[in-house]
Amino acid sequence: LSASDLIAPVFVDATTDERQPIESMPGHERVPVAEAVDRVQEVRKTGVEAVMVFGIPDSKDERGSRAWAEDGVVQRATRAITAETDAYVITDVCLCEYTDHGHCGVLEEDASEDPTVTVENDETLELLERIAVSHAEAGAEMVAPSGMMDGMVGAIRESLDAVGHTDVPILSYAAKYESAFYGPFRDAADGAPAFGDRRHYQMDPANRREAKREVALDVAEGADVLMVKPALPYLDVVADVRREFDRPVAAYNVSGEYAMLHAAADRGWLDLEATARESVLSIKRAGADLVVTYFAETLAEAA
Ligand code: PBG
Repeated sequence: LSASDLIAPVFVDATTDERQPIESMPGHERVPVAEAVDRVQEVRKTGVEAVMVFGIPDSKDERGSRAWAEDGVVQRATRAITAETDAYVITDVCLCEYTDHGHCGVLEEDASEDPTVTVENDETLELLERIAVSHAEAGAEMVAPSGMMDGMVGAIRESLDAVGHTDVPILSYAAKYESAFYGPFRDAADGAPAFGDRRHYQMDPANRREAKREVALDVAEGADVLMVKPALPYLDVVADVRREFDRPVAAYNVSGEYAMLHAAADRGWLDLEATARESVLSIKRAGADLVVTYFAETLAEAA
């Protein structure tokens, strides 16, 4: 396991002037845009080369319009980070942090407060295209659509190509499960659905073969890196994707996987660094070339 296998998530928050600790993710903070560069330099010092930038916008609305704004939080942070550091910048392309209802797309009409609400898939694609293009314009080296909308990879590829960003690859959250392990992230990024759930766009944890169909679609649409998420509870899926597809495989060691080791270590029940290392090593052994992990800095520093 080496530092170059790891991608460190970074949270940039447009609503604050000071770093805000994330309670359920010890050691992680939301940083103001003005400190995005410092934050990434801290990551680079450990030897980690790549960051995944998530944004908390200054305001939210029904369609998540701050997600594609030229002066949006990720766009501003990305311009600064790419100008002032040599980090490889991957941006999160999704709407759940930007919509006032917390869903990853545009809702069907009159859906407000309806727990059986569904997202309008194709209407959402247009918005994801705008977000991805705005990130590439700001200097993002790779974009990472995380919303599990059908057709998102193809739509984003076409839009990027149309404006000349043919060399910006797509890391697709190709097999993303509707998981209870995202809890701490939803606090961190303030992106929990206000009502309903994500079951109609994220995958059923019971399904293994469906992952291959989801991944095959993304490959056909031009995905460059295939991500499985979460990681530890889905190592079988990581191994399947490694075996069946000739693309780099990534896995997301998610917030709940991080929080549970911290909680146990706090009580003296587990050795934090040893269990973190073994976890990420297992994810690599299962077949991941890249691991997105909140342990990135700790592991790289100790390496
Ligand atoms: C948003 C997104 C989520 C995560 C990454 N991007 C949350 C979700 O789908 O609810 C979770 C990451 C983590 O738990 O660490 N589309």
